[in-house]
Formats: sequence, C-alpha cells, structure tokens
Amino acid sequence: MSTTTVTYLADYRAPEFLIEKTHLTFKLHEGYTDVNSQLTIVRNPHSTHADHLVLHGEQLELLSLAIDERPLGVGDYQITPQNMTVHNVPERFVLQCKTRIYPEKNTALEGLYRSSGMYCTQCEAEGFRKITYYLDRPDVMSEFETVIIAEEGTFSTMLSNGNCLSDTVHAGKRIVHWHDPFKKPSYLFALVAGNLVCLEDHFSTQSGRQVLLQIYTEAKDSDKCYFAMRSLKKAMRWDEQTYGREYDLDRFMIVAVDDFNMGAMENKGLNIFNTSCVLAHPASTTDAAFQRVERVIGHEYFHNWSGNRITCRDWFQLSLKEGLTVYRDSEFSADMNSRAVKRIEDANVIRSVQFVEDAGPMAHPVRPDSYIEISNFYTVTIYEKGAEVVRMLANILGPEQYRRATDLYFSRFDGQAVTCDDFVQCMEAVSGKDLRQFCLWYSQAGTPQLHISDSYDAARQQYSLTVRQHTPATPGQTEKQALHIPLKIALYGSKGALALVIDGQNKGTETVLDIYQDQQTIIFEQVAENPVPSLLRGFSAPVKIFYAYQLAQLQQLILLDSDGFCRWDAMQSLMRIALCNAIDGKDNHAEQIMLVDTLKQLLADHVSMDVALLACMLDLPSEQYLASLYDKANPTAISQARTQLQQQLAIQLQPELLGCYQTLQDKIQGLFAPAMAARSLCNRALAYLLHINDARYRNLAQQQFTQVNNMTDQFAALRALVHAEHAGSIAQEALQAFYQQWQHETLVVNMWFQVQVTRPWGNVLQVVHELLNHTAFDARNPNKLRAVIAAFANQNFASFHDRSGKAYQFLADQIADIDQRNPQMAARLLTPLTHWHQFIDEHAILMRKALESLSQRELSKDVYEVVSKSLMN
Ligand code: PHE
Ligand code: ZN
Repeated sequence: MSTTTVTYLADYRAPEFLIEKTHLTFKLHEGYTDVNSQLTIVRNPHSTHADHLVLHGEQLELLSLAIDERPLGVGDYQITPQNMTVHNVPERFVLQCKTRIYPEKNTALEGLYRSSGMYCTQCEAEGFRKITYYLDRPDVMSEFETVIIAEEGTFSTMLSNGNCLSDTVHAGKRIVHWHDPFKKPSYLFALVAGNLVCLEDHFSTQSGRQVLLQIYTEAKDSDKCYFAMRSLKKAMRWDEQTYGREYDLDRFMIVAVDDFNMGAMENKGLNIFNTSCVLAHPASTTDAAFQRVERVIGHEYFHNWSGNRITCRDWFQLSLKEGLTVYRDSEFSADMNSRAVKRIEDANVIRSVQFVEDAGPMAHPVRPDSYIEISNFYTVTIYEKGAEVVRMLANILGPEQYRRATDLYFSRFDGQAVTCDDFVQCMEAVSGKDLRQFCLWYSQAGTPQLHISDSYDAARQQYSLTVRQHTPATPGQTEKQALHIPLKIALYGSKGALALVIDGQNKGTETVLDIYQDQQTIIFEQVAENPVPSLLRGFSAPVKIFYAYQLAQLQQLILLDSDGFCRWDAMQSLMRIALCNAIDGKDNHAEQIMLVDTLKQLLADHVSMDVALLACMLDLPSEQYLASLYDKANPTAISQARTQLQQQLAIQLQPELLGCYQTLQDKIQGLFAPAMAARSLCNRALAYLLHINDARYRNLAQQQFTQVNNMTDQFAALRALVHAEHAGSIAQEALQAFYQQWQHETLVVNMWFQVQVTRPWGNVLQVVHELLNHTAFDARNPNKLRAVIAAFANQNFASFHDRSGKAYQFLADQIADIDQRNPQMAARLLTPLTHWHQFIDEHAILMRKALESLSQRELSKDVYEVVSKSLMN
C-alpha cells in the first residue's frame, strides 16, 4: 500500500464524459482472457470543459488503444496503477481498447474470476475497472452489448445481461451475443461461462408478459433449486402487489457460484448468488437457511427497481438502494412468514450488531461522508439501519401515502442515478410533511438513547411520560442534534390496553409519539390506574430505551402485551437484569424466580401461543449485546453468567421443556410455517435440556440425530450434543457420522465446521487449528473462512476472549495471510478486533496489540482502513 486517498462526499462532481454505448468482446482462453471494448463517449453537456479523459483501470495489461480507428501512441495517453489518461479527445468519439486479464489468478474475487471451473464476474462496487478501462462510477449509465467467445465445446453456458441476440459457431469458436436494452452503471455488468445445468420456469406479469426464469447451477446441485424458484415467483408477485413494480426484461437468470465474497449480487437480468443463498433441499438445508434463501432471492430481485432502474449517484448514497431494498425484503419475509418473529430478528441484529458498530471506531452515518475503501461500507449501518430509516418514513407517512411516494420516486427518477435526498423529497412531496429534521438520520452517526421517566397523578387521573434524547459522540462527529424519533407506545392496565387520550383527543389503544426535542413530556388524561408503559412497539425506531421497569411490570408485558416484539423485549429485559446482576456479582434470586415463573406459564400454555414467538423468547441476550451494556465489559464474567443462567433455567424448567418437546413431536413434519415453528421450539428445548448432565437427554438428542430426515432437526441435535460439555464420545461419534454422511455437500460441511468452532467449552482454538488443516478446508473459499474463522471470532465469545489473548493474535495472523489473496474478506474478518474499546483493559490491551501487529505489515487499502481507524479512535 503506497498512498491512502480518502474520498469525500463533499468533493462529488458530475462526470466530465458520458458513455452512451459499451460494446465488449470477451475472448476466453485457458490462462488468460482478452477484452476488447468499444466505448461511444461524449462530453457531458452539464459538466466543465476538460480536454482529457481519465478512465479507471487496475491490474490490466493494455494491448492496444485507438480513437475512431486511429491507433494511439505512447505520447497520447498515460497509465498509472489506478488510471489511464487520454489526452486531447474530441467532443464525441469511439474509444477502442484491448486489454488482457488473468481470471485464474484472481483470488480477490472481484472483476472476472474463476470459481470451481466456471467464469463469473463481481463488479460492485469498483470491480469493473479490473476488466477494462472505464468510467467505473455509478452515475455513468450506458447501454451494454457483450460478445463472449470461447473454443467450441468448452462451455455449455455463456451468459451476460439482458437478451440473447445470437448464439453461433464459427471456425471452431462459439460466439454468444447479448444486449441489455436498459442503461446501467458498470457495477451491474455480469458475465458467466461454465458447464452448468438450468432449472426453468415462467412467470406471467401483471400486464400479461411472459418472463423466462432460469436458475443455473453445477449438475450436482440440480435438485436444490426448486425452493429458490418458488421464492422468486413469490417475490415477483409480491413486488407487483405491494409496490406496483413489474419485471422489465423477457428473461431473469440466477447463477449459483461457490466462491463469492458476499451473499448475492443484483446484476441486471443476471443475478449471481453465493450457493449458500440459493441452494436448498430439506435433507441438507436448515429452516433458517431456507428462510435466508427466500429473503436473499427477494432482495436481489427487488433491486431490479430499487438499485438498477434507479441507482445511486455515488457510493455515499449506497443506502439509497440497500436500505430501501432491505426494508422491502424484510416486509416480503414478514408477509411470507411470522411478522412478529421477523421483527424480532431484525431488532436483534440492530441491537447486537449495529449498535455495537455505532459505538465503535468504524461508526458512520447511513450516508457516510468519507471513505478510504468503499468495500468496507457494506455494513449493518448502511443495510439494516438504512432499512429502519425507510421503515420510519413508511410509518410516518402511513401505507397509502408511502405507496404514492414510492410510485413517485420510481417514475420521477427512472433511468437515473440519484441521492438519498431525492428519495426523501418524494416522501415530502406526497405527504406535505417537513422532513428536514428527519433527514438527520442519514447524516448523523451513533445510536440515540431515550431516557424515559413517568409519573401518575391518581387524583387528576393523569399519567405523564418524560422523554429525554441523547446521542453519544462518534469519531469525527462530536456534536449531535436532536432527531425526529417516532416512538410507538401503549399503556397497559390490569385488564389490558388502556384508551389513550392526549390533548382531549382519543388515540385508540396505541399511538406514535413524535419526539423532536431534547426533552418532551406527554400527558395522558382519563387514566384510571397507574399503567405499565409498552414502549417502542414494533421496534418503531432504532434507538436504545432506558426505563426502570419493575420485575412484575415486565412479567405483565411478557404475558399480556399484544405486540410480539414488546413481549420478546420484556423477556429480554428480564433476562438482562438477571444476567447483569450476576455479572456484577450481585444477587439475582428474585429475577430468577420471576423468570422461571413466567417461562413456566408460557411453556405450559404453549398450545395457545404463537409457537415461533415463544421459541424466540427462550433465547438469552447474546454475549455481544451484554458486553455493549458496559463501559468496560469483562468477557469472562459475561460468558460465565450466561452459561450459569442457561443451566439454572434448564434445571428448573425441566418438566416443562421436556413436556413441550414431547407434545410437539407430532407437529414437526413438513416445510410449512407451523412445522418450522414447532421445530424451532423443540430444538430450543432440547438445547436447554442438554445443559443438564443427564444421560436421558443425551440419548434423546442422539435419537433425534439418527432418526430424523430433515437437516433442521439433525443439525440441532448435533449442535446440542457437541455444545454439551459432558456428551463426550456420543458427541464425537455424531460428529464423525455427520461428516461421513455429508462430506460431499460443501454447504453442510461448512455447518460441520461451524458447530465445532462455536463450542462453548474447552480449548477451541486448538480445534480451529486442526480444522484449518482438514482436507475439506480451503482458505481461498469465503464460505469456508466464514465457517471456521469468522464463526469462531464472532460466535465463540468465551474462546475468542480467552485471557491469554492467543485468539486475538491468531485472528490477526490469519487476516495478514488472507489479505494477500482477498482483501475484502480480510477486512470483514477484522470486525471483532475493532471492538477492543468495549472491554476491560486486560483484554483491550491484548486486542490492540493484535491490531498493532497488523499495522506493522504491508496491508491492502481495505485492511489498512479498518486497522488504522480502530487504533486511532
Ligand atoms: N449489492 C449486493 C446486495 O446487497 C451486495 C454485494 C456488494 C455483493 C458488493 C457483492 C459485492 O445485494
Ligand atoms: Zn442489496
């Protein structure tokens, strides 16, 4: 890494040139690929007058260059590691450029690369510049034509965006010609060539057009595409019904690849997916993975409008497409499955991952104002917090106005590259609301904290809530302003929700308080008894709530609240108080009694409850979340407290857990929502029971492991055994049997890796070292890195935070190695070390030391940015 350049939003300038047409020819050869490009370039009438053209280009071998057929000589252009400058260009011209690239040597998985034999591309965000010289920025939108040429008989499948114009053989070469009629930025370009099989189906759109749907995989996976296809059709219908958005090409293709840095990519008409987000079969795929497939299929499909038809002006606007699309996929999932559970899952990610990011050295606003490497900004803040911001807008407007506002957005900006402000302006235009203060959600980093206090005046029958808001400083942003926060609430009395009267107006039993100021007091009238407030219903804003609940009040909400999220949240609070007392060395007897009593009631009554919700309510708050509640957390105390509470609950709830497990056994067959919910509850119960050192429960798990025919139950049994400290040889045998059975299914082998490195007891670092040497491990495959290294560092709190600090240094060493091949993956694996500031000095010092050891090395831009920011702040 020679120099680091920082890119600033404030420096944005419109492009000086535009590319009307892009004509690409790929000649695929064993060992290298030649790319011929013909770009029809015109000066941007809206920009300053420049007489030289600066194109992006990295790691390219230039073979020839011409303008309007006139070859250019060395004096006509200049090349640096990042750019090519062509001097004195005319107003309008065709630039012809030949470059050579080496896909087989591309281990960064950005640009054109090979994944188990097939060729594929990944161009977002700035990968296209590794294919050819180009204006590789999202506000340059062009019409693409692509010709792929390969030796006849080498590849059955040769794909690019749009429609196939011709597919011919000439002089021993196969030549396939594609054309995408929609203008798009280069990051949406895609090419695939390989020997693949294809599942086909059709979809007829709301206006009656027939669309050909294709999912391409390697032959061995041909039986695992049916669910993805069904999900795709559901997503297409949902987007028509919910947003009025219809698909626009005659063909929609999905390709599954093994080696992929992310989940999937929305290339126009040719989505490329990580196999983990598209393949699914009940025997080899868990329910959670099925749901992920449905969600990601939806996500990438929805990008066709929110991202492709309307794209981002610059990468600072990334959340314009990602926040909106995550909100869309989240609503899609909620409509297809349990809405309450989906909301809980989303809130959980925001709380235990996004809040942590927001409190650390990498904190950034939903619309950042600077970056060194844009790849580092595909974060939970851009995606998940961005989605919460859109959700708040949707709730502020209400369904009818929100729909009109998105209609306006899609029609006003179709075919353009725009900003987050453009999106919000559509919301303002339709609703007439002033959203200027709301826009701070885009520019201000950090998590707002709401401190809420209340008082009840029995004589006046008045109840008042006082809300104070405060956002802690984040790196580079010390002054924070008050935000517009929609706080949805209800008040519970002894017999249920109370009517809400504010300023003489009856608001029903649930209302949104618009919090605008640093401090606000709201008075409720005609309140006949001192109520329990139900706060932040439906997780109405991504904020932290501080309100001093009494245990009995929490129990009341857990049992009675009509809002699923609030029931779960009240349970989390009860568990949190019990855990924090234990962590702080205080007595938590009263909390434990209350917890056991409440859980007994819920489990005994499970038939009358939303089973999926009940399953969520059994989960203790994560260690990461607990750590985030402290200025300086002691990881050992946190892990111990959590394990002990798990054991205590298991012992005291034994009959109820076992009863639940047994009575639900006849409801767990099939792929439908009720069966999935029953499985999730049974498997949580089983995991609890295995915390008890009792052969009966081990046998139960072993029996489940050997007898079931679906991956959810088989893997849950395996996990319960492997994670139980006393399961000894039974667990070892199960692990071996599992590997024997599934060694030919890469995705299942990844689960086998993951279950071992997340084991909450013993010397797991040793296990990690052994697995890194296992024949099935491959350090070039991102899914394997995630299954072993990321799973260990992110999901094994106790072992990662071992007092010796060995695991910290292990991670740093791995990252240094991975960085040589795949900088994006290396930078992403760093996240757990960036949280050093959360922990007591003993740990913080060792974590910093590991980071410092990295900073001594030659680093990619990606890793450099994360390491340097972490050590600075
Ligand atoms: N744009 C992709 C998505 O969110 C994510 C992605 C980013 C994939 C960068 C690859 C590279 O759907
Ligand atoms: Zn996306």
